[in-house]
Amino acid sequence: MKRKCFLYNLLLVGVASCAFTTSFAQNNEAKIEALLKKMTLEEKVNMIHGVSSFNSGGVARLGIPELVTSDGPHGVRIEHGRDWTPDKNVFDSGTYLPTGNTLAATWNPQLGFAYGKVLGSEAKYRGKDVILGPGINIIRTPLNGRNFEYMSEDPYLIAKMVVGYVQGVQSEGISACVKHYMANNQETKRTTVNVLMSERALREIYLPGFKAAVVEGKVNTIMGAYNKFRGQYCTHNDYLVNKILKGEWGFKGIMMSDWGAVHNTLEAINNGTDLEMGTDIGTPPFPYNKFYLADTVVRLVKSGKVAETLINDKVRRILRIMYQTNMIEGKRTPGYYGTKNHQMVAQAVAEEGIVLLKNEQRLLPLSRDVQSIAVIGENAFRKNALGGGSSQVKPTYEITPLVGLQQLVGNKTNITYSRGFKIERNAKADPKLIQEAAAAAAKAEVAIVVGGWVHGYNYSNWDDNAYDAEGIDKPDMKMPFGQDELIEAVVKANPNTIVVLMGAGGIEMGRWVNKTKSIVQAWYPGMDGGTALARLLFGEVNPSGKLPMSLPKKLEDCPAHKLGDFPGDSIALNYKEDIFVGYRYYDTYKIAPEFAFGHGLSYTTFEYSALTATKKGTAVTVTLNIRNAGKMAGAEVVQLYVKEQAPSVPRPEKELKGFQKIQLQPGESKKVTLTLPADAFQYFDEKANKFVLHPGKFQLLVGSSSKDIRLSTSIVL
Ligand code: GLC
Repeated sequence: MKRKCFLYNLLLVGVASCAFTTSFAQNNEAKIEALLKKMTLEEKVNMIHGVSSFNSGGVARLGIPELVTSDGPHGVRIEHGRDWTPDKNVFDSGTYLPTGNTLAATWNPQLGFAYGKVLGSEAKYRGKDVILGPGINIIRTPLNGRNFEYMSEDPYLIAKMVVGYVQGVQSEGISACVKHYMANNQETKRTTVNVLMSERALREIYLPGFKAAVVEGKVNTIMGAYNKFRGQYCTHNDYLVNKILKGEWGFKGIMMSDWGAVHNTLEAINNGTDLEMGTDIGTPPFPYNKFYLADTVVRLVKSGKVAETLINDKVRRILRIMYQTNMIEGKRTPGYYGTKNHQMVAQAVAEEGIVLLKNEQRLLPLSRDVQSIAVIGENAFRKNALGGGSSQVKPTYEITPLVGLQQLVGNKTNITYSRGFKIERNAKADPKLIQEAAAAAAKAEVAIVVGGWVHGYNYSNWDDNAYDAEGIDKPDMKMPFGQDELIEAVVKANPNTIVVLMGAGGIEMGRWVNKTKSIVQAWYPGMDGGTALARLLFGEVNPSGKLPMSLPKKLEDCPAHKLGDFPGDSIALNYKEDIFVGYRYYDTYKIAPEFAFGHGLSYTTFEYSALTATKKGTAVTVTLNIRNAGKMAGAEVVQLYVKEQAPSVPRPEKELKGFQKIQLQPGESKKVTLTLPADAFQYFDEKANKFVLHPGKFQLLVGSSSKDIRLSTSIVL
């Protein structure tokens, strides 16, 4: 009886809260209409464009505040004055979370929620209404300078990770801003390239992450991309904004421009731009009334060329988000900034996101009894938080790999540091530095080379951006600063060498990958990245990260470069690889990457058994057992790929359609259940212009990576 009563009450609460939400929303709509009626045209227009570096206009007379936005996707950016001059003597050092790649590499949606919640709380503390993240553009080329901010090459993984992140941010009562909508997959000529792709590539690869953020994540705002799509700028693109975003997906929030992405007043009015931010007219302080959606709009409406209802819809959307986030009425709960709890989330994401790529002869985990370690490479001591461009964060602190190791074992282990290479423009291999590093390695029990990419040279100005940074793409996949020579020399001097790669992946390893026992992909792991890395290397934490993108052997293997276009131009940047992005290409065309999508080792081993697949209506339920066959607790990401046996159109060798991360004690077994909805088997039929199921046999492949398939079965649909 008790249980029934409890469930009944739960049901009542559920119905009540749903009713409350509906009435709350209806109530808001009535208030919005009432406000609109009071507003003059000039007051409405003042709300749909920027009035400072990061704010859009309010209406003080009516108690409507300015909408305050701030970068970025992995931490609240430094405080900019109203005219882009960074404020001095303000308290703007907070939590520097690991970047998007690292979060995606955790394959842990719950962690995505925690990550978003930290970001939302810190933004709220800093007085922001909108945090300008997450960035989720598909990783189409390893050269893209902003890959580090983004998540993956796979739309399903992005969709699963972005929802938690957005809901985490918005659970703090402020707004997330999913970006950049869409196909901003490179920095080269980002404000002018005209992206062309098939409808199928659009629907199967490039839209699903945004659709999940809007439809499942209920994201409050979205940012248009700089580039064009099929001839029209994304920010005022009738097809992308009116037809898909606001039409098909029913988006009721704010579609804002990227900073300087609006180029045409009438297009912006008619094609769904709700808010114009950052248009560059002259130098700060900008004449904001000269923006495209400013005085010109007042004139157009007054002369009858533009219907005021079009402006009302934009203002309605902004007011809707203002009401929803207690900007006009109600109160926000307090935000927290730079707290220990937030730092613990940052560290947890790094510990679950750093990927163990290779580990031979059990070199890792290192024993606490190790007597001496030669730490080599300027990246071991490099701080990254303020780099990368608009996603920069001023961290409360940043623990580098060297400091992380010193703090963990420095009291017992002799740790030496050699620079190994110089992070300087055009720096080549420095024989003296290499010789010193090799000598240090030869004298130590273990050598750890920390190399990879950097955000550029010095972070004070954008002209110094390089490699992993906004506004620039990498020139190629070759390691800069003579790191290849360094690694070869160190591995030769000491076979017990571990190579740790910082940065967004996409680096050639061919000259040393087969000679190196252990390799770790560490991304930009946030303020406690060094702590997390040290704990992983010494086995305090068992690695569980999995690659969210393939790591190709060389650029020529990469479909965007092999098939083109890259970098394209303002006439056409044609995505000729179509849907065959990342592992969809490598597996279908049998080109082995260096390390595969979904790959990541553990210090223990997992056994897969008892795979079953049963149809339930149009869905398919897959079950299997996973056992931790080793001596160390660990987490496995069980991945489920689908492959159509005899497709009617070319389809990828496999497509990720399910995954689950599970923690297992040594010897422990767990049953995993994954449900595939009908759309997991569909493809986008361009003739029918919709997703369809081609009846027939489908293989279900379950494994520890896209390459390491452990079990398979098939089902007929
Ligand atoms: C930048 C970026 C965008 C950022 C905005 C504000 O150009 O493309 O991600 O949020 O401008 O800094």
